[in-house]
Amino acid sequence: MDIQRSVYIKTFGCQMNERDSEVITQLLVENGYVETASIESADLVILNTCSIRAKAAQKAMSLVGQLRKQKRQQSQLKICVAGCVAQHEGEELRRRMNHIDLVIGTQNIYQIGELLDRVDQGEKITAVDMVDAYRIPAFLPNCDTGANTASSKFVTIMQGCNNFCAYCVVPYTRGREVSRSVSDIVDEVKVLLDSGVSEITLLGQNVNSYGQTNSVTSDGSPFSFAQLLERVAMLSGLRRLRFTTSNPKDLSLELMQCFRDIPQLCPQFHLPVQAGSDKVLRRMNRKYSISKYLDLVAGLRSYRPDIALTTDVIVGFPGETEQDFQATMDILETVRYHGSFSFKYSDRPGTAAENFSDKVPEEQKKERLMRFQKRQNEISLERNREYIGTIMELLVEQISETSIKGRTVTNHIVHVDQKDSSLQPGDFISAKIYHAGQHSLKGEMVENT
Ligand code: 5AD
Ligand code: SF4
Repeated sequence: MDIQRSVYIKTFGCQMNERDSEVITQLLVENGYVETASIESADLVILNTCSIRAKAAQKAMSLVGQLRKQKRQQSQLKICVAGCVAQHEGEELRRRMNHIDLVIGTQNIYQIGELLDRVDQGEKITAVDMVDAYRIPAFLPNCDTGANTASSKFVTIMQGCNNFCAYCVVPYTRGREVSRSVSDIVDEVKVLLDSGVSEITLLGQNVNSYGQTNSVTSDGSPFSFAQLLERVAMLSGLRRLRFTTSNPKDLSLELMQCFRDIPQLCPQFHLPVQAGSDKVLRRMNRKYSISKYLDLVAGLRSYRPDIALTTDVIVGFPGETEQDFQATMDILETVRYHGSFSFKYSDRPGTAAENFSDKVPEEQKKERLMRFQKRQNEISLERNREYIGTIMELLVEQISETSIKGRTVTNHIVHVDQKDSSLQPGDFISAKIYHAGQHSLKGEMVENT
């Protein structure tokens, strides 16, 4: 009998990468590997990398560098670099770091089993082919592998992006936009629901353009993202449905109305604005104006007044003046987001903005980021305080000796201090909120209503 080999997988970056890591893990378990939490004892180390900002890419690459020593001591160790850095750098990466055995791109993960068999025969491989007409292979989660035990799961519905925002490396690391077929998505969701999952998040770089660039139905008839939400929401066992991410330029009325019409669709929307100044948005190639963006916010709130909005912001994009930055601060006051992710602009190789000449000095970016985050934190706290006294449904995620951690439909974390030894992750409970912090709420358990 073969000795079971162990795999350690570390994921950097977004939910897309997290989902890809789950797929990789499942494929490897099916190929006889066991997952280990210890990098030192692993036979195979996989680093699923992110290159959205320079810092993320550096973090992953410094870990790859550290593995050189481990490989010297443990010659059987195999090292695989996956994800966006792998896709972007390809063979160059293996040339610089010759202790890497396999560089595997974002469209190649489904072949990881065969590629590792060849690595076992002593080959060093770079597999980063990227084709425009890529089809995401049919894939069914195996809920017995232990990799799929959580009650909330991601399902990839598309990958790639055709937008070419001036700062963004994604179109180069994930290729052109490709949507999965409706039936593959429905099959995957059904397996998850049958195994006890109750919350599904549909994932893609720009979910609003689902089904626009390739056919997703067997007879070629058009099928929109809003229709996909309706289709998935009909499946029995689904209690909560979410999605991410959306580009405001493609947010349709039909999609906004889903928040009124689909009860399982959670009142939460991540709508990246990136900047508050029309001039900066134009240079970013975002293809919407702030007034259009604010119309979308008003529309969403008219269909779902309790919707919690979050956003992404880049400060210090090339050419951003103090006045432009002030416009971003103004958006905070107008929309009053429940939360936001904010970043200093970072040059990415191959993007249009890399070549813009009017870069903002590092110190200024830092200072603007601090100002932005300080104000956002205050607003998040004020927003969170609005929940005090309300009763919210929680999906239990974690249970410790002293507290229960759950998530609301609005995607807020709530810590509940009351103990109930019969509770399990995946249960739904109700909690009355009595305290609000910047990043989470506290509640006490009440009888389910
Ligand atoms: N610099 C800084 N932030 C970036 N993002 C994407 N590219 C860059 C970059 N070059 C941010 C955007 C995006 C989020 C995922 O990361 O805000 O929405
Ligand atoms: Fe990047 Fe823009 Fe595509 Fe989002 S929409 S992945 S920011 S290019």
